[in-house]
Amino acid sequence: MCGEVSVSGGKNAAVAIIPAALLANSPCTIENLPDIEDVRVLIEMLEYLGAEITFTDGTMCVDPTKVDKYKAPYELSRRMRASYYLAPVLLGLFSRAEVPLPGGCDIGARPIDQTIKGMTTLGADVRIERGSMVVSTDGMYGAEVYLDLPSVGATVNTVLTAVTARGNTTINNAAKEPHIVDLANFLNSMGARIKGAGTDVIRVAGGRELHGSTYAVIPDQIETGTLMIAAAATGGDVLITGAIPTHMEALSAKLLEMGVYVSDDDDRIHIRSDGNLRAVNVKTQVYPGFPTDLQQPITSLLTIANGSSMVTETIYEARFKYVEELRRLGASIRVIDHTAIVEGVDRLIGAPVTATDLRAGASMIIAGLIADGVTEVSGLNYILRGYEDIDRKLRSLGAKVERVVSDRVLMY
Ligand code: EPZ
Repeated sequence: MCGEVSVSGGKNAAVAIIPAALLANSPCTIENLPDIEDVRVLIEMLEYLGAEITFTDGTMCVDPTKVDKYKAPYELSRRMRASYYLAPVLLGLFSRAEVPLPGGCDIGARPIDQTIKGMTTLGADVRIERGSMVVSTDGMYGAEVYLDLPSVGATVNTVLTAVTARGNTTINNAAKEPHIVDLANFLNSMGARIKGAGTDVIRVAGGRELHGSTYAVIPDQIETGTLMIAAAATGGDVLITGAIPTHMEALSAKLLEMGVYVSDDDDRIHIRSDGNLRAVNVKTQVYPGFPTDLQQPITSLLTIANGSSMVTETIYEARFKYVEELRRLGASIRVIDHTAIVEGVDRLIGAPVTATDLRAGASMIIAGLIADGVTEVSGLNYILRGYEDIDRKLRSLGAKVERVVSDRVLMY
C-alpha cells in the first residue's frame, strides 16, 4: 500500500468522554469523534436518559440538562463494554444508578471488582442484581483509593465517581493510558480539578460544579497502530496523519526491530517496508508498554517474518482465539499457555475467516492484505465497533478490499 491516510478520533477516549458530558450543567461540544457503532450506541443510550444530542461530521453536541433517568437501557448497554461508565455519572446526578453489567469482546473474564472497589471506597453502595450494577449512596466523599491493578475501566469509573464526591480523592496504581489523560483533560475543561492523569497517582478535588465545554478527543491509538502494521505487512510506503507519535512508541520500536522504516514528527508517522521482516518477540503490557489491543494485529504481521517469534499476552487470559483463523490462511502458530509461537512462512493463502472480536477482526484484515488470493472476513459488525471506514481508508492506500453483503469484508 502507498499513500496518505488520516486517523479518526479515539474510540476508548470517546466512550469515556461522552458519558462524562452528562455531568455538565450546560451543553458540551465534543469534536473529532469517530463515527463507529460504540459511539452510535452511546448516543441512543444518552437520548434514552433524556439528553438532547446532535452528531454530524465527527462533532457531537450534548445537552445534558434534561437527563431525568438513572436506569440505563438493558438492551443497548449489552452492546458495548463501556456502558458501565454511566454508573458513576448517574450516581453523581441522582445518588443512584442502575446499569447492566458490561458486555464487550470475548477475550477473558473481564471482572469489574476494581470498579466496585473504587466506587465503594468513595461512599457508594454497589450491588449486582439481575445482571445489573445497582448503585446508591447517602453521600460521596473523597478518599484514598488503592487499585489492586492498573485497570483502565476502574480508573475511568473512579475518576468519574471522584469528580462528584465532596473532598479530595487520590487514586493509587491508576492506569496511564492516553484515554485516561484525555478524560481528565476533558473534565478539567469543564471545571474539574484533576492532576496526575497519565501517572499512577491521580488526584481529584471533587464536588466542583462542572460546566459545558468544547473539546476534541485524541486520535485513536489502536487504529494508528493497526494502520502502521497494515503498511508494514504490505511492503508499502504510507504516511499516517492526525496521529500522536508518542502514543505509538512501543509499537514503533518493535517495527524498527523487525526492519521496518519508521519516522515521525508532530502529528504524522511514516512507515516504509520492503516486505523483508525480522522475527521478534512481543510481550503485552499496560501503557506505555506494548498495547494488548495490538497483540492480534502484530501476530498477523509476524506470520510472514523470517524466523520464529514469541507473542506473550499478559493482560487477558483468552486473547488467542483468532489464531485458529490465521491457521486457516496457512499461518504456523502454536499457543502454549499465554504465549503464541509464530514460525514465519513464505506466504499466506486467502480463505474465508471469521472475526471473533474487534481486534481479531483487525488481525484478519491484515492477514487478508498479506494473503495471496481472496480472503473473506465475516464478523464485520465487530470491526465496525472500533474502526471508522477502515475499508475505505485501506482502499485509498491501494489495497484491494471491499465490503460484501452486510457483515463481510473481502480482501483480494
Ligand atoms: C479497556 O478495557 C479497553 N476498552 C480495552 O480495549 C483494552 O484492551 C483494555 O482497557 C486494556 O488496555 C475500553 O477502553 C472501552 P482493564 P477494560 O480494566 O477497561 C483485569 C478494545 O479492543 N481486571 O484494564 O475492560 C481484566 O480481566 C478493547 O478497544 C480485573 O481483574 O480493561 C483484564 O484481564 C478490548 N479486575 C485486565 O485486568 C477489574 O476490576 C485489563 O482490564 C478490572 C480489570
